[in-house]
Amino acid sequence: MTCNKYKYGWLLYHKKDIDKNRWFIDNFIEKFKIHNVTLELVPADDFDNIINNRIPDFAIVRAINPYYNRKLEKSGVRVYNSSLLSEISNNKANAVSFVNNLSIPHIPTCVLRRDEKTGELYIHRKILNSPEFSFLEYYDSLIKNFGKKSDYEKYIIKSVSGHGGREVFILNEFDSDNIIPMEAACEKYYSDKYVIQPYIDCGNKDLRVYIIGGKIIGAVVRHGISGFKANYSLGGEVSLYELRQDQKNTVMKIANELKADYCGIDFLLFGNDDTLIFNEIEDVVGARMLSECSDIDYISLYVNHILDI
Ligand SMILES: Nc1ncnc2c1ncn2[C@@H]1O[C@H](COP(=O)(O)OP(=O)(O)O)[C@@H](O)[C@H]1O
Ligand SMILES: [Mg+2]
Repeated sequence: MTCNKYKYGWLLYHKKDIDKNRWFIDNFIEKFKIHNVTLELVPADDFDNIINNRIPDFAIVRAINPYYNRKLEKSGVRVYNSSLLSEISNNKANAVSFVNNLSIPHIPTCVLRRDEKTGELYIHRKILNSPEFSFLEYYDSLIKNFGKKSDYEKYIIKSVSGHGGREVFILNEFDSDNIIPMEAACEKYYSDKYVIQPYIDCGNKDLRVYIIGGKIIGAVVRHGISGFKANYSLGGEVSLYELRQDQKNTVMKIANELKADYCGIDFLLFGNDDTLIFNEIEDVVGARMLSECSDIDYISLYVNHILDI
């Protein structure tokens, strides 16, 4: 089966991530080959040299840094995901701000930047929910009063570009000098450094919804087994979740606006009716959790989306 849309594409990864993603990379390349499309694995570490020599028809960026997505788009390359999605989702402050504009409930968020001269962190802006979500007022008022040391165990602080729960702390356990940024290059891309949020008690579980080609392909609930973080990579448990229509509508509002190719959208599940409270968007998303509890062939779905099959 020959594809008329593309002949040659790039699969961009940081060298450090290639070995642990080998299975996904090999499968992905094989699936494109079936359609006579060559997908070349390109190390993002050599990006600037390589892009000056040749240009692909399309690029799948699996190296977290919106710089690559933007530079490729400027060269006329169709990029999966777009630089818009990459810029919004790889900065937790941008993601919350984006969802706030869609009037979807999100975790109230206070954005910190660092003063270049003194090195001190300062509050740059607060992103609070729109008034109709009155059930979140308590949290809004917590964050409005943020600053009282006695309340520090009620807040969470996270670096804007962290992953896997490794840069997420209860505020009174936080020490910025001890955080080694996982995505240092990406962090440099943004002026925002940290977000502070009220701790919202949702029983240590959260929801990941997978989107491919603007459609929901599945959702899983993650349940943290130690501490408040539900991340699978920290040893969380996972099970398939059936979304109600109203929950699907919320997710689709975000996915449509982002023109999402392949991403994960994460929510806290709040209260007895599992109200979705937006947390973050994962641009370079893996699907280990989905594979764990379903037979969904996300690689084929993604290839079909890219090739318009
Ligand atoms: N404001 C919050 N209130 C309660 N739990 C939270 C809050 N923020 C994050 N968490 C929990 O911590 C986990 C990790 O935080 P998250 O913002 O998703 O960072 P990461 O990008 O590192 O996964 C989330 O999956 C969720 O279970
Ligand atoms: Mg997360």
